[in-house]
Amino acid sequence: MGDWVGVVCEVAHSYRPPRVSDRLPIAVLVSGTGTNLQALLDTVHGREAEVVAVASSVVEAPALERAQARGVATAAFARGDYADRGERDRALADWLVERGARLVVLAGYMELLGASFLDRFPAAVINVHPSLLPAFPGLGAIEQALAYGVKVFGVTVHFVDAGVDSGAIILQRAVELPDARDPDEVLAALRPLEHSLLPEAVALFAAGSLGADPDNPRRIAIRADAAIRSGEG
Ligand code: GRF
Repeated sequence: MGDWVGVVCEVAHSYRPPRVSDRLPIAVLVSGTGTNLQALLDTVHGREAEVVAVASSVVEAPALERAQARGVATAAFARGDYADRGERDRALADWLVERGARLVVLAGYMELLGASFLDRFPAAVINVHPSLLPAFPGLGAIEQALAYGVKVFGVTVHFVDAGVDSGAIILQRAVELPDARDPDEVLAALRPLEHSLLPEAVALFAAGSLGADPDNPRRIAIRADAAIRSGEG
């Protein structure tokens, strides 16, 4: 009988309910409205991932209020407050490391990140971009695509490297808009794609389902049995 009690106590002590730390701690970097941040807060946050920090390059970015409304720690790292980009990047990385982030998600973050930041999160920084990369990297992607006269638009989620929107592609989704003329119309069509693709990529990363193809490290392999979410709330 004594043995049984011992076993039961041991099992009781070894059982741990799921904790926050069982979810992937992620940080989100923003500069503006924060609809992509909101999509993350409404889907993967508290499930596959835990948003542990939201940092903005713009002090008054509305995105910060979205984070605060969910009790997520926020901070602003404005370029003007630092001697140069390297100093700003180091301060930003220090804060995210302190908060325990293991994946950094750029969701409308309008600044480039240098090696002093990227080296702190190797292969763990991702970005959402409103074009089918490698077409139309950088600022004004939708305007660039319209000026070029494309008929298929789209969204890319990719790893971030030291270049401009040049890292390995994780997920892409396209939409045909053969008559599009207006950037707002294209943006409205791309928004739902962004808001489902970014959480999908975070969930895949959190599940350990992303890996580089040994034959071509630029080609990100997604584990065959990985369940791709479809942006459900
Ligand atoms: C999105 O269109 C994203 O693709 C681009 O910046 C925009 C951010 O929008 N990088 P929001 O702040 O998430 O609403």
